[in-house]
Amino acid sequence: MIEFFDVCKAFGPGKTAADHITLTVNDGEIFGFLGPNGAGKTTAINMMTGILAPDSGRIAVNGVDIVRNPVEAKRQFGYVPDSPDRLLRLTGMEYLTFMADVYDVPTGPRSFRIDALSREFGIHDALGDEMQSYSHGMRQKAMIIGALLHDPAVWILDEPMTGLDPKSSYTLKQRMRQHARAGKTVFFSTHVLEVAQNLCDRVAILDHGRILFCGGLEELRNEHKGDSSLEKIFLEMTDHA
Ligand SMILES: Nc1ncnc2c1ncn2[C@@H]1O[C@H](COP(=O)(O)OP(=O)(O)O)[C@@H](O)[C@H]1O
Ligand SMILES: [Mg+2]
Repeated sequence: MIEFFDVCKAFGPGKTAADHITLTVNDGEIFGFLGPNGAGKTTAINMMTGILAPDSGRIAVNGVDIVRNPVEAKRQFGYVPDSPDRLLRLTGMEYLTFMADVYDVPTGPRSFRIDALSREFGIHDALGDEMQSYSHGMRQKAMIIGALLHDPAVWILDEPMTGLDPKSSYTLKQRMRQHARAGKTVFFSTHVLEVAQNLCDRVAILDHGRILFCGGLEELRNEHKGDSSLEKIFLEMTDHA
């Protein structure tokens, strides 16, 4: 579960990136955070994961406050950043071992999980290579696997489908569904509406740091009966905000 209580963040006068965000993401739910480029999705995710501090308001992951109790809060989630260009001098295996160490994954299950996940995402044969030789998609997959090693209750992904080929994108979506079916939480951002369709139980539509809508896509469609497509609704909402 993820809770935002009246969270605000500005990067200077008039540069509001989070405007009184209040939001609850439930267990067992795939939640899509939708909005155009610059809407404030990454800023909200950075606050949720303890990378940025909110100006005001409070965020809790599984009931643990990320500012007051950062280490305990960070144990609750696995996080996949929007850019996978990190620690590139490490081999895939070194990176995953490092992540397993950070999250105290016992040595027994760790090798099994690294093996199974890297096969599932198709980078097993590249684990001995430095990540700087990886394509964007392979780096992305290494980050995804690293975030899943400790079997987190909450999975937070920032624009996770970007740069993935169709097969990997499919695998990732299956994984997300599996995670939610197990009663866990999946929160991801996207600027692409199609990614949210058929995957999300609920979405929030964000623009200029404000939540314009929060609910199911069916509910959104019903609220805008005159409009034919979700794409049109999405564009209209974020254009006039
Ligand atoms: N570190 C920063 N310094 C100044 N402005 C920032 C910073 N990070 C984000 N912004 C601004 O905040 C707004 C929201 O950005 P971001 O959260 O990255 O949006 P999104 O992820 O939805 O594309 C944008 O106007 C962006 O320029
Ligand atoms: Mg972003």
